[in-house]
Amino acid sequence: MTQSTSNAAATSAVSGASAKRGFWSSRMAFVLAATGSAVGLGNIWKFPYITGENGGGAFVLVYLLCIAVVGIPIMMAEVMIGRRGGRSPINSMRILAERDRLSSRWKWLAGVGVLASFLILSFYSVIGGWAVSYVGTAASGQLSGQSAEVIGAIFSGLLGDPGKLLIWHSLFMALTMLVVARGLRGGLERAVTILMPALFVLLLLLVGYAMTTGHFGQAASFLFRPDFSSLTTEAVLVALGHAFFTLSLGMGVMMAYGSYLNKNVSIAKTSLLVSLMDTGVALLAGLAIFPIVFANGLEPGAGPGLIFQTLPLAFGQMPLGSLFGTLFFVLLVFAAWTSAISLLEPLVEWLEEQKGMNRLVSTLGAGSLCWLLGIASILSLNEWSGFAPLGMFAAFEGKTVFDLLDYLTANILLPLGGLLVAVFVGWFMARQALENELSLRGPWFGLWYGVLRYVTPVAVAIVFIYNLV
Ligand code: TRP
Repeated sequence: MTQSTSNAAATSAVSGASAKRGFWSSRMAFVLAATGSAVGLGNIWKFPYITGENGGGAFVLVYLLCIAVVGIPIMMAEVMIGRRGGRSPINSMRILAERDRLSSRWKWLAGVGVLASFLILSFYSVIGGWAVSYVGTAASGQLSGQSAEVIGAIFSGLLGDPGKLLIWHSLFMALTMLVVARGLRGGLERAVTILMPALFVLLLLLVGYAMTTGHFGQAASFLFRPDFSSLTTEAVLVALGHAFFTLSLGMGVMMAYGSYLNKNVSIAKTSLLVSLMDTGVALLAGLAIFPIVFANGLEPGAGPGLIFQTLPLAFGQMPLGSLFGTLFFVLLVFAAWTSAISLLEPLVEWLEEQKGMNRLVSTLGAGSLCWLLGIASILSLNEWSGFAPLGMFAAFEGKTVFDLLDYLTANILLPLGGLLVAVFVGWFMARQALENELSLRGPWFGLWYGVLRYVTPVAVAIVFIYNLV
C-alpha cells in the first residue's frame, strides 16, 4: 500500500508552518491521514447512540443523505481551498480571498473552525479516556460472563467517579499532546496503515458475532427501515451536524491536509473514498451493536454509554472474549487518538504562526487549556449532573456542560463553518479556478457546482432556521 517514504514526507509536511512545505508523496498518504481524522469516536461511539436516541431508520437515511449532498461536496471544497491556498487554513482562506479581491475577513471562517476544534477536543478527550479505561477493564477479564446489570454498573461506576475520569482524560490528552508536540511522526502514519484495516476486520468479526444473537434481522430493520413518524426536526439537525462531525468538516482540518496534496491527485475521488470508508465504519458499528441491544433487552436510546454497555456484553459471552475485547478497545483508542491529533493541530499551528510560539510551548499551552475545560465535562457527568448553565432557554433545558459543548459544536459551529465554505466556494470564487482545480469530466463538475451553490447552503440554512423557530 503506502511506501514508507511517503509517510515520512507526509508527516514532516504536516508538522507545522515552519517546516519546509512539501506534498504527500502518494495519494494513499493523504487518504490515510484524512481517514484517520474522520474515523473516530464519531463513528463507533456517537453514531450508534444518536441513531438509537433518534429512532433508527429514518434518522440513518437522513444522515446518509446529508453525507451525500452536504458532506462530500463540502469535503471537496475544503480540500480544494487547502490545495489552492497551500498554507494553514486561516492563511489559505486569506490568500484565496485576496486573489479574487474579496474581503480578507473570510479568513475568520477558518477562525470559527479553530475555536470549534478546541471545544470539541475538550470533551472528546473525556470520552477517549473512557475507551482507554476499558482497555484495562477488558484485559483484566472483569467482563467475562457478566450480566447486563453488572456491565451497566461497571460503566456507571466509572462515570460516577470524577477522580478516575480525570486520570483517563489526562492520559488521553497527554497521548495527543505527545504526538502533536513532536510533529506527526512517521510512526503514527504507519500505525494508521495497520490499525485502520485491523479496526475494520474486528468490526466485521463483531458483526459476525452479532448475527449469532438471533436479533440481527430486528437490528437491520431498526437501522434501515425508515419510520418517518419517529423523525423529529431536531433529529434532522442532529443528522446534519453529525455528517460534519464524522467527516471532520467545517473547521479546516481537510483544508490543512489538502494543502499538502499533489496537483495531479483527483480531489473528487479521494474525498469520495474517505467518505465511503468513514460511513462504512459507522454502519458496521451499528450492525455490531444493535443486535446485542435487542438480544439483551437493552434500551436503544440509552445515550452516550451505549457502546460501553453493549459491546462488553458480547465480549463477555464469546470465546476469547477478553482478548477480542482488549483488542477492540485498543483500536478504539487509536481511532480516537488519530482524530484528537487532528483536532489539536489547527490550534497549535495557529499559535505558532500568529503568536510566534514554538511547537512545544504552543502544544503545552493549547493542550492544557483544553484539558482544563475537559474537567467541566467530567464534572457534568457526576457532581454537576443537575446543572444546566443555559437552562433558562427552552432549547437548552436540562443540557449539562458536556451536552452543551457537544450541541454547540456539532449542531451549530460545524454546520455554520460548512455553510460559509459552500458560500465562499460556490458564490465568491472564480468558476474557472474551480474547474481547473477539480478537473472533473462530463457532467460531474456541473453537478458538484450546482449542489454546492444551491442545495448545500439551502439545506443547512433550512435546518438551522427550522430549529431556531
Ligand atoms: N471525525 C472525528 C470523529 O468522527 C472527530 C473529528 C476529528 C472532528 N477532527 C474533526 C470533528 C474536525 C469535526 C471537525 O470522531
